Amino acid sequence: MQRTLTLQTTQHIGEVVKLQGWVDTKRDHGKLTFIDLRDRTGTVQCVGYQKMGELTPESVIEVVGQVKERPENMINAESATGAVEIDVREYTVLGKAGSLPIPIDTDGSEIAEEMRLKYRYLDLRRERMQKNVRVRSELTRALSEALYEREFVNIETPMLTKSTKEGARDFVVPARLQPGLFYALPQSPQQYKQLLMTAGFERYFQVARCIRDEDLRSDRGFEFTQLDLEMSFPESRESVMELVETVVKQAVTSVGGKMQQDPFPVVSYPEALEKYGADKFDLRTEQEKKNGVLAFAWVVDFPFFKKVDAKDVAEVRDGKSGWTFTHNPFSSPIPEHIEWLKNKEHIGEIITAQYDLVCNGYEVGGGSIRAHSPELLTAVFEIMGYSSEEITEGVGHMLEAFGVGTPPHGGIALGLDRLAMLLTGETSLKESIAFPMTGSGKTAVMQAPAPISDEQLRELHLATQLPKK
Ligand code: AMO
Repeated sequence: MQRTLTLQTTQHIGEVVKLQGWVDTKRDHGKLTFIDLRDRTGTVQCVGYQKMGELTPESVIEVVGQVKERPENMINAESATGAVEIDVREYTVLGKAGSLPIPIDTDGSEIAEEMRLKYRYLDLRRERMQKNVRVRSELTRALSEALYEREFVNIETPMLTKSTKEGARDFVVPARLQPGLFYALPQSPQQYKQLLMTAGFERYFQVARCIRDEDLRSDRGFEFTQLDLEMSFPESRESVMELVETVVKQAVTSVGGKMQQDPFPVVSYPEALEKYGADKFDLRTEQEKKNGVLAFAWVVDFPFFKKVDAKDVAEVRDGKSGWTFTHNPFSSPIPEHIEWLKNKEHIGEIITAQYDLVCNGYEVGGGSIRAHSPELLTAVFEIMGYSSEEITEGVGHMLEAFGVGTPPHGGIALGLDRLAMLLTGETSLKESIAFPMTGSGKTAVMQAPAPISDEQLRELHLATQLPKK
């Protein structure tokens, strides 16, 4: 017999069906036992004899039974299957559940984070998490579809790569076959996506995993996902912003998100500082906060360079001259300031062609029109104090690519975890990621980082300097 889903049972009144799923709740009523059976489509009430009382909550079972209409006064209007119940003829346990380490019939906020993440596979069964993970999946689909419709090509870029200068520390991977050498995991696909413009694809996108060794916060993880895109021959930064705005609106609307202003307001960086005291801000009214509205806005006209913060190790390393980039070293300045950059004049006043997308007080995206000539990119690194050898070592491959016919281009990366978090009304990224890390950087369920064997260390030509425990 084929499996019927719980939601389909209302179309099979009178028939004998086979259902499979989890024991959501169980109620013993003397001789009768009531089970709510849960599958991916919802729940349905199953009625069986006393023996079913042996079933433990969250066990996986198969039930064969007849779909019956409930008497009028027993209909549960709150449930999509509330007009029927299953008269159980036989049942089989497919996967028994012992006692559960965490409850899953609450929203989970009362449980310690370490416990929720250790038992994430259970934690994810709760209704809120099922919804969050599914909304994220739909958002990814909608964004991807909106881009496919506009002739973007979905292209994967390497995970084992070289440091990408995105302003954070790298996670590095030892190369077993090349002793003493290391790969870096990508902080973003920035350079590869630009090289895809050189390669003539004109419109690229990717659901890209990015990895950065930064201080963890509720809106920041070591690994996160970007909806990353790049396009060639943009008329202006506004034309990229316009395309991104259309795509975001189409996707957010299609997953049921409510948006505030259309078009998104565009705020200059100095104006944002003056009005809101920060470059990310929340434009919602109290009522809009309650109604789950998303208030998007663009921020533009950021300074290209800033003085290095001596306390920030990554900044000190990038900004050897005392100047470092504020957003992205691969950006172009706005057209009016290109000469300043080339001549290394008015460094603190040069404005970058960067645009950030903010929503409800979070930065949910950032991008720019890029430098696509070797002189411009070289000038950026010279301003930051790089010698010509260091420039060749760091971005020589980009300079070479720019010398074989690279079109003007620009793009953006949207923070998918943050967008999904806001769409689901959550305030922590962990609620929109299936297997996030703990606040202290331990992975869910499998609890990395963990030691590796001496043999593995030897094979990788590594020695740790820590005293042996
Ligand atoms: P940027 O570094 O601004 O730009 O990243 C783009 C967007 O990614 C999200 N984001 C994060 N989300 C969770 N955890 C993190 N640690 C994290 N860091 C960033 C944010 C951010 O707006 N290559 C450029 C993009 C470009 O210019 O096209 C880049 O990576 O929502």
